[in-house]
Amino acid sequence: MDWSCWSVSLVIVMVIKLQVGKASTEIPPIFVFGDSTTYVGTNNYLPVERARADFPFNGIDYRDAKPTGRFSNGYNIADTIARLFGHKRSPPPFVALLRNQPFFKRNVLWGANFASGGAGLLDFTGRQLKVITIREQVEQFGTVCNNITQVMGESAEKVISNSLIIISIGSNGIFDYLLYNDTHNEEYFITTVMQSYHYHLTNLLNPGARKFGIVSVSPIGCIPRYRVQNPTGECIEERNLYAQKFSIELEGIMQKLSAEFEGMKYSLGNSYEATSYIIDNHLAYGFKDAITACCGLGKIGAESPCLPNVTVCQNRDDFFWWDRYHPSQASCEVLALTLYRGSQKYVKPISFSQLVEDI
Ligand SMILES: *[C@@H]1O[C@H](CO)[C@@H](O)[C@H](O)[C@H]1NC(C)=O
Ligand SMILES: *[C@@H]1O[C@H](CO)[C@@H](O)[C@H](O)[C@H]1NC(C)=O
Ligand SMILES: *[C@@H]1O[C@H](CO)[C@@H](O)[C@H](O)[C@H]1NC(C)=O
Repeated sequence: MDWSCWSVSLVIVMVIKLQVGKASTEIPPIFVFGDSTTYVGTNNYLPVERARADFPFNGIDYRDAKPTGRFSNGYNIADTIARLFGHKRSPPPFVALLRNQPFFKRNVLWGANFASGGAGLLDFTGRQLKVITIREQVEQFGTVCNNITQVMGESAEKVISNSLIIISIGSNGIFDYLLYNDTHNEEYFITTVMQSYHYHLTNLLNPGARKFGIVSVSPIGCIPRYRVQNPTGECIEERNLYAQKFSIELEGIMQKLSAEFEGMKYSLGNSYEATSYIIDNHLAYGFKDAITACCGLGKIGAESPCLPNVTVCQNRDDFFWWDRYHPSQASCEVLALTLYRGSQKYVKPISFSQLVEDI
């Protein structure tokens, strides 16, 4: 008897079984919420004038150099996270799924992206821009839960509780507050946005969401747009302090909610710590430049947004920053990997990957 051949076929059978098992049980639906950091083109479908990026040089490294709406040369953090969890494509904008009615109910079982560039945690952040506020995004998810129940009946509960909720929001509110409010009262501001975050998370938990991958605010004082305003060229400390405080307070809220809601699991990505580490050690990550925007104009590329009439760098993967506000595709990949299986310093109490494992 030829044992070696037998064992090879046994291994093949096992591999096939594992793959089937993975396809049917381990790839969770993904629902994405937030602002331009996780946004895949919602605003393209809306009468939004300013908060959009569906023109070159955005998308220059995407398939056919297509400007998809993402504020990126290619993919962003939501895309990489979806791929890491086994999705073939990033969940499309919810508004795009709605336009494809015949397939809506089937498509939505894989997830949807509700994020809207320009959105914030407070209702007035982004309202002038006519973007989809986080309140509306959460309402849309409520509708989707109804739709899943229409299709799945009783088993909908399990589908919804196994779904991954990915949220990345908070920077725009801080930008607006520091720009428009003369009294910079950090305590007051952070308390207000945290009440709002708590409220919206509760409205995701109530219809049955239980698994949360949360991305806090990155060191926004270091983005080119603000760094260029500092005569020393350094990061703006006040903005970074708001971001740090945001992460700390959010951890408290997540702990509190997970004690209240049975079965809740969360992974909180400290984008402040993770991004700071990558910027400080950018050479080790393959970035030659962690200061200049690849697409822009003037000093550190930060004197213009990324538009078709500005300059764009040749080697995009060398740059941490894509435009004056957003990280490049290459840096999003590093960030997403850090969230997916990084250490407790960057993602707590478990990593994103552990959200789908039985631990
Ligand atoms: C989804 O649910 C909402 C609210 O329950 C309903 O109005 C809408 O028609 C549903 N969409 C589809 C495609 O079934
Ligand atoms: C500005 O801050 C004060 C308190 O510090 C607050 O009462 C007010 O609502 C804020 N305004 C805006 C637009 O955030
Ligand atoms: C690029 O185009 C925008 C509007 O389309 C305009 O406001 C801006 O001045 C132009 N910049 C340059 C450098 O031509």
